[in-house]
Amino acid sequence: MKTYIVGNWKMNFTVGESSIYLHKLLKLIHFYRGIEVVVAPSTIALQTLSLQLNRQSNRKKVKLAAQNLYYRDYGAYTGEVSVSQLTGIVDYAIIGHSERRYIFGETDKEISKKVAAAIRGNITPILCVGETANERDFGETEEVLKDQLLSGLRDVSLEDIKKVIIAYEPVWAISSVKGARLASPDDVARSIEIIHEQLKALYKKDENPVLYGGSVNPSNAGAYLTIPGVNGLLMGGSSLIADQFNAIIDLAKRVQN
Ligand code: PGA
Repeated sequence: MKTYIVGNWKMNFTVGESSIYLHKLLKLIHFYRGIEVVVAPSTIALQTLSLQLNRQSNRKKVKLAAQNLYYRDYGAYTGEVSVSQLTGIVDYAIIGHSERRYIFGETDKEISKKVAAAIRGNITPILCVGETANERDFGETEEVLKDQLLSGLRDVSLEDIKKVIIAYEPVWAISSVKGARLASPDDVARSIEIIHEQLKALYKKDENPVLYGGSVNPSNAGAYLTIPGVNGLLMGGSSLIADQFNAIIDLAKRVQN
């Protein structure tokens, strides 16, 4: 299985800055067959970066992801972007990120529709799951992860489940969250196990890449990448500095060997 190194730029960088970043990254990175490098810029920069990748025939080296999408194809949905509008521009879409869930009030039902819409449009959904600090303190991690998977994948058939990537991101470990703590590899290992168990329970198979995200940086990335069942990383802060992001890509290759 490939290793996925995904950078979520969140609401950072103008279009110009995004383009300069991509230019720098393309110069820095080596193309490794087993490593899938994905960046998720803001929606407004997607088209520019897509053209930039096409122009330099670099679509294999770096893939694009949307940070969100809407599940209807077109219509009166002010401010939203549909799968059909993203088709040909992105290969992936991050869905159900905790910032979408907790800042913008996205519900499990909406998330499940977004996952299904992405699959219909041939965009690979990266479904984010993860417990909050309170849920963890109350010992609810297992229940929360299983519930989020059950509801997020509700409209995904046995046939389509292989098209989904799961990202485990404990909300309490995300660097921008107040009082964020670093998740220990043991904590992460247990949650990753729960995720794989639930996928097996729901689909009688478990072929999905599962990523880890939460304050990953070049010094701890190796420890997370070597946890059994972890197939890559989803990063916020560390993806904003091209040299750091590139260092993590190189590290992923070394860990794979
Ligand atoms: P972080 O963010 O790497 O800055 O903790 C991860 C994320 O929110 O996806």
